[in-house]
Amino acid sequence: MKKKQTLKSGEKILFIIFGVFFVLAVIAYIGLESVRLSKEEPMFKQTTFFDFSEVGKEGSKIYREARCNSCHRALRTGTSMGLILDGIGSKRDADWIESFLLRPEDVYGAQTLDHGIPPKEAAYVSRMPKDQIRKMAVFLSELKADAGSSVAKVPPPERSEFIDNMVKVWAPKEWKDKYQDIRDKPPIESGEALQE
Ligand code: HEC
Repeated sequence: MKKKQTLKSGEKILFIIFGVFFVLAVIAYIGLESVRLSKEEPMFKQTTFFDFSEVGKEGSKIYREARCNSCHRALRTGTSMGLILDGIGSKRDADWIESFLLRPEDVYGAQTLDHGIPPKEAAYVSRMPKDQIRKMAVFLSELKADAGSSVAKVPPPERSEFIDNMVKVWAPKEWKDKYQDIRDKPPIESGEALQE
């Protein structure tokens, strides 16, 4: 009869290490889910919002059908291969987005990865009918973000000790003479489009 194969000690150690990670992951998952379910408020604050116009709604339909989601993330769907588009309307207005979709490289003033001329993967976008591009631009410009959220261009309305410390530690001295701190400018309403 064939001898029963036993595990070598190296294999046993690997299995044990894997087992420990697995058990820890299960415990962490159960812990996190029970905290999340017992909370009244959402665990992560929602910092993006939208209020679509009629054209914006049409644009969202075109956006969905044009496979933008295969690279972008917006409204909780899509992937993060390209940029996340939630909140983009607080950084760019419809005209900027429209020009970008039509002439990506000119607007970026730099090499692009996927938008642009063939064989780039998103080259088809600038060839879509102009009215569809306009509607998508309006839709995207209506995806807003709260001031201070990671996708907003404007800092939080209140002074943040964390940001103060980061600026103190990381911003070189000469920047202070060269650039104006955006937080010292007059307050900007949340969601207002800013252009570079
Ligand atoms: C193959 C992947 C891919 C597809 C498909 C794609 N994009 Fe993009 N998108 C990108 C990448 C990557 C960037 C960054 C610019 C670049 O390098 O091309 C970008 C940038 C953008 C930007 C500029 C964002 C900013 O703030 O700079 C907009 C707007 C945009 N895409 C909209 C769209 C729309 C609308 C569609 C569908 C019609 C689409 N994209 C399809 C990958 C993609």
